[in-house]
Amino acid sequence: MPQSSTPKMSARNVNVFYGEKQAIQNVSIDVDTDNVTAFIGPSGCGKSTFLRTLNRMNDTVASARVEGEITLDGENIYSSGMDVVQLRARVGMVFQKPNPFPKSIYDNIAYGPRIHGLASAKADLDVIVESSLRRAGLWDEVKDRLKDSGTALSGGQQQRLCIGRAIAVEPEVILMDEPCSALDPIATAKIEELIHELRGRYAIVIVTHNMQQAARVSQRTAFFHLGTLVEYGSTSEIFTNPREDRTKDYITGRYG
Ligand SMILES: Nc1ncnc2c1ncn2[C@@H]1O[C@H](COP(=O)(O)OP(=O)(O)OP(=O)(O)O)[C@@H](O)[C@H]1O
Ligand SMILES: [Mg+2]
Repeated sequence: MPQSSTPKMSARNVNVFYGEKQAIQNVSIDVDTDNVTAFIGPSGCGKSTFLRTLNRMNDTVASARVEGEITLDGENIYSSGMDVVQLRARVGMVFQKPNPFPKSIYDNIAYGPRIHGLASAKADLDVIVESSLRRAGLWDEVKDRLKDSGTALSGGQQQRLCIGRAIAVEPEVILMDEPCSALDPIATAKIEELIHELRGRYAIVIVTHNMQQAARVSQRTAFFHLGTLVEYGSTSEIFTNPREDRTKDYITGRYG
């Protein structure tokens, strides 16, 4: 379903296989910067698999094979000329389980900008660290303990640190795979608030099992089932007036 604004990323006829087994079948979708896109669907339907095709994270799985075309600003990310390290800076990822590096809070944020050469002087790096932590909604909580280990933070703080780490390299797209599933309701609310604030600056795609969360944070929702994209549309339409029976059954809790 093409959208009116120019999509940040487009997938066309994407198939993903793990060995002989097909996990994603013929998925085409556009995501843009103005909207947060939620991927929903029952466990095992391929949400994570498809999400990982968007920054070639499946490259790290030996048995995985991706067919079809995925573009970022019109450029095929699977072309031989694509620098995968650069791609993953442009299309950042936040995982289900917060995974800060076993380094200081400061170095967690500074790591990416350093290796990508975004800052040479310490003062420039300080600016990036502060602005990234501010945008991740974590600065006030950590500004006096930047030398403490990132792993010493609470789970919710760690997840915001990971979002800050993704932001620090000035990505264009942020992929989040169930970023709140290990967090309590207060930490979850903070991440959701953060997603609201980041919307418009980055294209954001979030996988969630929580229907209320999808309804709260996203403007567009994609429903996956058995490796296919069943329905993709405005979140309010998907939740109030889905076109497909399978979507209706899932959102009303009849299966999944
Ligand atoms: N590394 C892998 N090797 C082989 N098969 C895999 C691998 N990762 C996922 N699969 C298979 O691909 C299918 C889709 O899995 P995927 O993890 O993408 O689903 P999901 O929708 O994210 O599920 P969940 O909601 O439980 O996270 C499943 O059948 C799964 O067993
Ligand atoms: Mg998953």
